[in-house]
Amino acid sequence: MVIPFEKYGQKGLFIQPYTSSLQLIANYSSAKPKNVQNLPQLPVPKLKDTLKKYLNTVRPHLNDEEFAVTVKLVEDFQVDGGVGSKLQSLLEKRAREKENWLEEWWLHSAYLDFRSPVVVYSNPGLVFPFQKFNTQDDQLRYAAQTLLAALDYKSLIDRDLIPVEMMGKSPLDMSQYKKIFGTCRIPGIKRDSLSYNDTKYVTVIHNKHFFHVDLWGEDDVLLNEDQIVDQLKVVLAMSQKPSSKRIGILTSENRNVWGKAYQALVADNTNRNSLLDVEKSLAVLCLDRASGLWESGDKNARQNIAAAQTIHGGGAASNGANRWFDKTIQFIVGADGVTGLTYEHSPAEGQPIAVLTDFIIDFINQNKSAKRPKSSNPKQPFRLEFNVTSEMENTLRTAEDNLDRLATDLELNCFTYDKYGKDFIKSQRLSPDSYLQMAMQYAFYRLHKTPGAHYESAATRIYVGGRTETIRSCSVDSVEFAKVMLNPKTSPKHRLEAMNRAINSHKDYTVNALQGFGVDRHLLGLKLIAIENNIDIPKLYLDSGYVKSAHMRISTSQVACKCDGFMCYGPLVPDGYATCYNPRAGDVNFATSAFLSHPDTSCASYRAALEAALQDMHDLLLLNTKSKL
Ligand code: COA
Repeated sequence: MVIPFEKYGQKGLFIQPYTSSLQLIANYSSAKPKNVQNLPQLPVPKLKDTLKKYLNTVRPHLNDEEFAVTVKLVEDFQVDGGVGSKLQSLLEKRAREKENWLEEWWLHSAYLDFRSPVVVYSNPGLVFPFQKFNTQDDQLRYAAQTLLAALDYKSLIDRDLIPVEMMGKSPLDMSQYKKIFGTCRIPGIKRDSLSYNDTKYVTVIHNKHFFHVDLWGEDDVLLNEDQIVDQLKVVLAMSQKPSSKRIGILTSENRNVWGKAYQALVADNTNRNSLLDVEKSLAVLCLDRASGLWESGDKNARQNIAAAQTIHGGGAASNGANRWFDKTIQFIVGADGVTGLTYEHSPAEGQPIAVLTDFIIDFINQNKSAKRPKSSNPKQPFRLEFNVTSEMENTLRTAEDNLDRLATDLELNCFTYDKYGKDFIKSQRLSPDSYLQMAMQYAFYRLHKTPGAHYESAATRIYVGGRTETIRSCSVDSVEFAKVMLNPKTSPKHRLEAMNRAINSHKDYTVNALQGFGVDRHLLGLKLIAIENNIDIPKLYLDSGYVKSAHMRISTSQVACKCDGFMCYGPLVPDGYATCYNPRAGDVNFATSAFLSHPDTSCASYRAALEAALQDMHDLLLLNTKSKL
């Protein structure tokens, strides 16, 4: 059920679409919207509750001796008057003083302090359903429709007309929607920052050239589809040959390297103005060169090509420099039909981006951009110029090599599992998400014969400023389930019981995590409050239980969209897998990835194990239906 956002009465800061943009920019960057939806605050869980859950989640990763050490450390940590209770009171004090005790810490520790490249390590890609463009005009028309759809959606966001999402009877925090357009990450030497803006133009990148393209005419009316196509034609005419400047590649670099390069660039006025122009635009549109989409064999091969294009642009020689990876939203429209987006993760979770995607696909399918009025006297697009010194040229070359290395190392296996989807799982009275998570646990154990620490994102948006909590999907029950399934001597009844136990145990953790009662964010908070107060980091954090249970070899996220698209991203650890999945009524789109350089992982084998696990679980359920085990 959805209810209109505006029902919550108070308007946010961004209610006037496209007016007084300077004023909005000032507000946006200097003030945080108050709790306009009147949502509850993220709680600080009780220390004893978190530590009890923690011990359950570390158990699968430790032998008896190691576990005894962890139990002792937990006991010492939670002793009355000990360091744990001191940190807990400091954290509770912080929670009383802030709207959300975690929000700023999370933004910094999960994103802005993170120094690895955003490419592969942080930015997800989102692949839209494939298109077949026969002419350049097809490509430009689709690009124009994508922009018009996105701007229609932005106008709904600005006017608070997006339906409030609900979890049961609880409304979810909608503020992430306000941060999708106009936002840009700015590299720093030690920490990046975010710049929020509201303007009336987009940045278009073609052949590695950057352009400022206004989307409103002199009369303040949005250009129509034909007019945007004309603007894009001007861009193409001005960028027939690839730019030697290829400045976009810098955004794929390690953040410290890019931070230093950024400082060198802004010392030059021309560069500074161009960088500011990209920073303030509403979004980026990448008009990409062809990537061989339709020359590849089957849907699976196409999914992999498109995933690569949306994650890293296929490397420097393909479209990797035709990007600005720091922009929150970057639409990709390739010459032969790869369409989708890359998004910089720090301001928003995947779900709002998936909702935007469905809106765009519906808008285009229903041809909603047809018959719009013309606006008067559109301004001509202009190129954003960059001056590149010989020193910067070296930085560009290194960045190209680094991106190529990263792209070559990322193994992708994206596929549609079409034997069944969430309708079948629901018909068995099971939670589709917990079921799929347990399939991944079983698959990993089947392949590696060891429990895999497993991260799943749960949205904590029932709270003001809520982002995510980790569901630790690897449990004593999930490992037992895998072992029982792999033991040829176990009966179907035994297997079914083990499967139901594992699924229910995951569902229990999920329900807790969605309410902010997981393990990870609370433990992170206790650690960060220790650092802030110059208190030594407790031994608990150095223990093998902590380290092993947080070494997330399976990094997963459900990002649900109705269209036949999917989100994709890289693994969290060198010996891990990423699995982003879109469960639909009759099928599931999976995007898996791993690093080729690690000898222990193979995406192809993981996919095979996952498909086998899904088949086994299905067969077990059908056997039960027939014979009531
Ligand atoms: N029997 C029958 N149906 C059931 C069931 C059962 N035992 N348990 C659940 N279902 C139904 C639900 O009612 C729901 O129905 P709907 O499709 O009509 O709404 C559907 O199955 C799906 O429920 P389930 O699979 O249990 O959970 P979910 O879809 O709510 O997903 C999370 C769980 C944790 C993934 C979700 O709550 C969440 O947090 N999503 C956001 C994750 C995120 O932030 N990702 C982006 C990170 S970048």
